[in-house]
Amino acid sequence: MRIAVLTGAGISAESGLATFRAADGLWENHRVEDVATPEAFERDPDLVHRFYNQRRARLAEVQPNPAHRALADLAQSHDLTLITQNVDNLHERGGSADVIHMHGELTRALCAACGHRWPAPLVMQPADPCPSCGAAATRPDIVWFGEMPYHMERIWQALEEADLFAAIGTSGNVYPAAGFAQHAARRGIPCVELNLAASANARDFAKRIIGPASETVPNWVAGLGRR
Ligand code: APR
Repeated sequence: MRIAVLTGAGISAESGLATFRAADGLWENHRVEDVATPEAFERDPDLVHRFYNQRRARLAEVQPNPAHRALADLAQSHDLTLITQNVDNLHERGGSADVIHMHGELTRALCAACGHRWPAPLVMQPADPCPSCGAAATRPDIVWFGEMPYHMERIWQALEEADLFAAIGTSGNVYPAAGFAQHAARRGIPCVELNLAASANARDFAKRIIGPASETVPNWVAGLGRR
C-alpha cells in the first residue's frame, strides 16, 4: 500500500518546539511580515537571521518523539512518501531517511546570489560569505510567504499514486499543503487526519484521530499492519 503523509508543527510540539498558531506560538512573538517574507529579509536581514538563529538553537536542545519514530518504522513496512511543512530535522533524527521538506530546512543555508546550499552554522549573520561565490547574501534555506514551496512535482506525483493520505499535526491553514487532502479525497482514497482537534480543512478527511501525536501516530502505524 502506498501511503502519503503530510506533517505539520503539531508532530514536533511534544518534542518541545513551538507551533505557529497556538496561543504561545511562533507567530505570536513575531509578525510574519517582520521575519518570514523576502521583503522582511531585504528590510532587516539581521532580525530575520536572529529569528531563525533562535529556532536553530532551540532545535539543538530537543529530541524526536515517538510520532517521528513511528513514521520511520512505517517506511520499513510500507511505500511511504513523507512530506513535511516543518523545517526542523526531527523526522531525520527520528530515523526517516527520505523526507520532503516543502518549506525548506532550518539546518541549511542558501546563497541568495548563486543558489548554493550548505549546512547552516548554528548562528548565521547577514555578512556571512557564501562558501561558493563569496557574496554576503546568505539566508536561511526556508521557503518564505510568497515564495514557491520546494519539491511540488514530486509531491503531486505521490498524491496521484497514493492509496492512503494522512495529515498529522497541521492546522490546514496554509496552501498548497492545506489542499492535499482535498486532492486525495477527489481521487477516492481514504484520508485521515491526526490532530488535537479538527483542522481548518477537516471536511476533506473521512476520518479523524484526536489526541497527542506521540500517542496517536504509533497506534495508527501499528494498526496499518504489514504491507
Ligand atoms: N499532537 C497533534 N497535533 C498537535 C499537537 C500535538 N501534540 N499540538 C498541536 N497540534 C496541532 C494543532 O491542533 C494544529 O492543528 O498542530 C497544528 C499546528 O498548526 P500550525 O501551528 O498552524 O502549524 P502548521 O499547520 O504546521 O503551519 C503550516 O504555516 O506558518 C506557516 O510555514 C509555516 O509550515 C508552517 C505552515
